[in-house]
Amino acid sequence: MAETQETKKADLRHGFPVRDLRDGVMVSGEVDGEEVVVARRGEEFFAIGAHCTHYGGPLAEGLIVEDTIRCPWHHACFSLRTGEALRAPALDRVSCWRVEALGDKIFVREKLTPLPLRDVTDVPSSVVIVGGGAAGLAAADMLRREGYDGPLIIVSGDDSPPVDRPNLSKDYLAGTAQEDWMPLRPPDYYRDRRIDLLLRSRVSSVDPKRKQVSLENGKLLEFGALLLATGADPVRLPIEGATDSQVLYLRTFADSKAILAQAARAKRAVVVGASFIGLEVAASLRARGILVDVVAPEHQPLERVLGVEVGLFIRKLHEARDVTFHLGETVSRVRGRTITLTSGTVLDADFLVLGVGVHPSLSLAEQAGLAIDRGITVNEYLETSVAGIFAAGDAARWPDPHTGERIRVEHWVVAERQGQVAAKNILGRREKFNAVPFFWSQHYDVAIRYVGHAEKWDAVEIDGSLEARDCAVTYKKGGRALAVVTISRDLLSLKAEASMEAELLSQRQQVA
Ligand SMILES: Cc1cc2nc3c(=O)[nH]c(=O)nc-3n(C[C@H](O)[C@H](O)[C@H](O)COP(=O)(O)OP(=O)(O)OC[C@H]3O[C@@H](n4cnc5c(N)ncnc54)[C@H](O)[C@@H]3O)c2cc1C
Ligand code: FES
Repeated sequence: MAETQETKKADLRHGFPVRDLRDGVMVSGEVDGEEVVVARRGEEFFAIGAHCTHYGGPLAEGLIVEDTIRCPWHHACFSLRTGEALRAPALDRVSCWRVEALGDKIFVREKLTPLPLRDVTDVPSSVVIVGGGAAGLAAADMLRREGYDGPLIIVSGDDSPPVDRPNLSKDYLAGTAQEDWMPLRPPDYYRDRRIDLLLRSRVSSVDPKRKQVSLENGKLLEFGALLLATGADPVRLPIEGATDSQVLYLRTFADSKAILAQAARAKRAVVVGASFIGLEVAASLRARGILVDVVAPEHQPLERVLGVEVGLFIRKLHEARDVTFHLGETVSRVRGRTITLTSGTVLDADFLVLGVGVHPSLSLAEQAGLAIDRGITVNEYLETSVAGIFAAGDAARWPDPHTGERIRVEHWVVAERQGQVAAKNILGRREKFNAVPFFWSQHYDVAIRYVGHAEKWDAVEIDGSLEARDCAVTYKKGGRALAVVTISRDLLSLKAEASMEAELLSQRQQVA
């Protein structure tokens, strides 16, 4: 692990004293106009681009772990040696430069060329990926990065190529992210990498024996290996009296656009469900000047996931922006603009957005006869009960080595990382999925980062102050930290993740 050392931007080509770079510390500077970070591990020195290729996070404020550097914003992980994006959410490498130590000075020299693609042998005749979301795209991307050259097809029920789904409820909905920022990859990416992206196409069945998938349009696709990355669908609640056009859900780009279309002519909205998505929608609608009422059955928003203290804090954040909560109840009926709650409270709204959770999309796996237990059951290699068929993302339930339990989560980064590991295992790499779960959520100007996984806990420890928006909240069971939420403490979040990884490694070494 490392800390960051602030220095003024120097031209690193001219060299700087070795003593300025203690072990595990980073120095920022410039090379030919590009911002660069130099890091030291023991007697080794590394120079790497200063900005993460996900959203441009400042790597100098991140964490060095062994020969990797972690981004403070959403925990992407890069190799210090090659700049490779080892773990999502970054998908592209950062540049690296050769570093030379001469006498008592360090010089940054020429830029290193990316490593050539690996030669792969004994690979599947073709790979079909069902799902054009986080896991599906990350898997296709990794297959090509790992040198897989065979036919590669993504079948997606979505109208649009894979998009930055988390942004659908945040900046895009709030109007601060442009439409052309949303695709994860530009159109020529698919052409250049020969990824056949079938949009508005749904797989209706999988035949594991014949190794075929059938599409709803009647087309048959053969596969050598199959990845099910079917994600999750919003839970749909029947609401008495509501018309279809009044009730909106949010999963796809098209859904977000539909909310925007309603918002363009609306003054008031009701969000049903104090979920992450529901509350992010509330924040984005407020940014557009729309008055929002949130209706939810729990006592505090997000109480089940983040506990009462953090839930109350998030509620106050929204109340300070004039969001009105109606907790402990739900909608009983809708008549035109009039929305009546179970308590009898009457609200006025142009439309409703339902954010009451999702359920994993399991129908294909069920039909194919794969093992299912509240998610598609996979082993540590993300392979299902049928050899050659893998699953990743919101639909998959995997043996999490950190909790010792099978878990299923709905986190963007986990889905992408699972897609990446599944891709490697499709190529026979036998890599275990052992990443520490991580997610983030954004409420106005407050970013919440969560590492680990705690379904139940017996103690919550708050270091710092929620009110001051500067704290770490640790969820413990039997004295062991299961998960840590941070606000304005990004480095601490990375350290918590690294310490959970180290704990697992030490357990494994003790067993070996
Ligand atoms: C609005 C919103 C905001 C979010 N914000 C955050 C956040 O801030 N942080 C975070 O960690 N997570 C966030 N998430 C959750 C995150 O987006 C998901 O965990 C992630 O997208 C899961 O990836 P996936 O690949 O499993 O599924 P998805 O990304 O949902 O992709 C599933 C794909 O499968 C396709 N599909 C399903 N069935 C079929 C079929 N039969 N045939 C063909 N295609 C099929 C779908 O069309 C889709 O393309 C958010 C989710 C939403 C909706
Ligand atoms: S900006 Fe680096 S992981 Fe998101």
